[in-house]
Amino acid sequence: MSTTTDELFKNVIAHAKEYGFVFPSSEIYDGLSAVYDYGQFGAELKNNIKTYWWKAMVQMHDNIVGIDSAIFMHPKIWKASGHVDGFSDPMIDNKDSNKRYRADQLLEDKIAAYDEAGQTDIAELLQTEMDNALKAENLPRLRELIIEHQIKCPISKTGNWTEVRQFNLMFSTQVGAIADESDTIYLRPETAQGIFVNYLNVQKSGRMKIPFGIAQIGKAFRNEVIARQFIIRMREFEQMEMQFFVRPGTQAEWFEKWKETRLQWHLALGTEATKYRYHEHTKLAHYADAAFDIEFEFPFGFKEVEGIHSRTDFDLSQHQKFSGKKMQYFDPELDENGKPYGNYVPYVIETSIGLDRMFLLTMINAYEEEDLSNEERQDSRTVLHLHPCLAPVKAAIFPLTKKDGLPEKAREIMDKLKVDFNIQYEEKDAIGKRYRRQDAIGTPFCITVDHQTLEDNTVTIRHRDSMAQERVPADQLDKIIGDLVSW
Ligand code: GAP
Repeated sequence: MSTTTDELFKNVIAHAKEYGFVFPSSEIYDGLSAVYDYGQFGAELKNNIKTYWWKAMVQMHDNIVGIDSAIFMHPKIWKASGHVDGFSDPMIDNKDSNKRYRADQLLEDKIAAYDEAGQTDIAELLQTEMDNALKAENLPRLRELIIEHQIKCPISKTGNWTEVRQFNLMFSTQVGAIADESDTIYLRPETAQGIFVNYLNVQKSGRMKIPFGIAQIGKAFRNEVIARQFIIRMREFEQMEMQFFVRPGTQAEWFEKWKETRLQWHLALGTEATKYRYHEHTKLAHYADAAFDIEFEFPFGFKEVEGIHSRTDFDLSQHQKFSGKKMQYFDPELDENGKPYGNYVPYVIETSIGLDRMFLLTMINAYEEEDLSNEERQDSRTVLHLHPCLAPVKAAIFPLTKKDGLPEKAREIMDKLKVDFNIQYEEKDAIGKRYRRQDAIGTPFCITVDHQTLEDNTVTIRHRDSMAQERVPADQLDKIIGDLVSW
């Protein structure tokens, strides 16, 4: 079926809502901008993505351990990490509409418009000028570019702009009920700092030897001014991060290794390699000496899904300075001159993937509106070709009819399978309709219990992608499903 990329994206969003994957948050109160809830199948898919990551990063590496640090942290942490002073976006207000915009986003949109109109020279020039202004934190220059290129407010269509100001992206709140006891704390904008401040605890309690990693999955919060593209840019989202602590001087080698390892993790799910690309950062964050993004081709273009950052010893050194606690590692190994490396602050390679972006990527990649028409009749189905290990429901069990003891037999089979797999039971509607519902949520197997099952204990198993059906003994289901959905 021919669908434009715009339509495809809209259809995926509608599908995600209709089938219980993602709902706008607080919808009965008209929603809350840039916040979303995961429904019954969304929560399962998200958990399966987390498990896939955790197994690959923690279980498969004997030198990586996982933690779960608190969202609330000492406010000094964000001073030390540079987030209080540096984690901000350049904002500009339109005086006529009182609407606030990210200055760099307005310019990016203009660059895209020049590109679309074939004015690639102007687009490239503007891109360079914007990058230079951002690098030099030259806020007046950003405003000048907006005025020079006659950028209008998307709503009021005027070019009546304020100065550009920095706007911090961290949410703050107070702890303690009494004013005296209260203090401003922040909702963490990245999970990484929870790892850095536990570096000593984990290294000592786990007797970890460099190189080693600490991983964690958790919520992060950013007061994003522009909510865009569904769950791509949210105010509350989840990250899966790993900090890998290495000997100074070896960071470039480990950076390359993790860049490659992380891309392989994505490709192991069966996604076409052409859908991915690396993007090298030219404007580096305050903590990094090298940074690459792993980008995926969404319907609206290539977008960052994961960042691989060489963070040097910046974070641990800053925490050493601000906390007064030594963040050093004693390395007894000998260098090429036969001397022990001794004490040093480790360098860090970080891998940081947005769980929600990975979720969207997975949905988009899996979604197909398949034309099944033949000479006799028109037919179609919407199917999610999810990797079986990520599918929210692994198998659905259908009694052919609601009588003759078939529901009881189907439930008996389900009760055995549900110990190991997430299984659904459905007896409503014709079998064809039940297949379509399961295709729409990506269930790899549908199992039908019919009258023959009562005689010889065999069932029909129907495969989601090929739609092929075969007759198999019910007591082999465990193995058939297990072989395909195991990690
Ligand atoms: N600790 C490093 C760090 O946080 P980042 O590039 O700012 O780096 C890492 O974020 C990943 O988190 C991104 O690649 C993206 O997938 C995800 N992410 C960042 N901001 C997000 C947002 N507002 N909504 C959803 N995901 C986001």
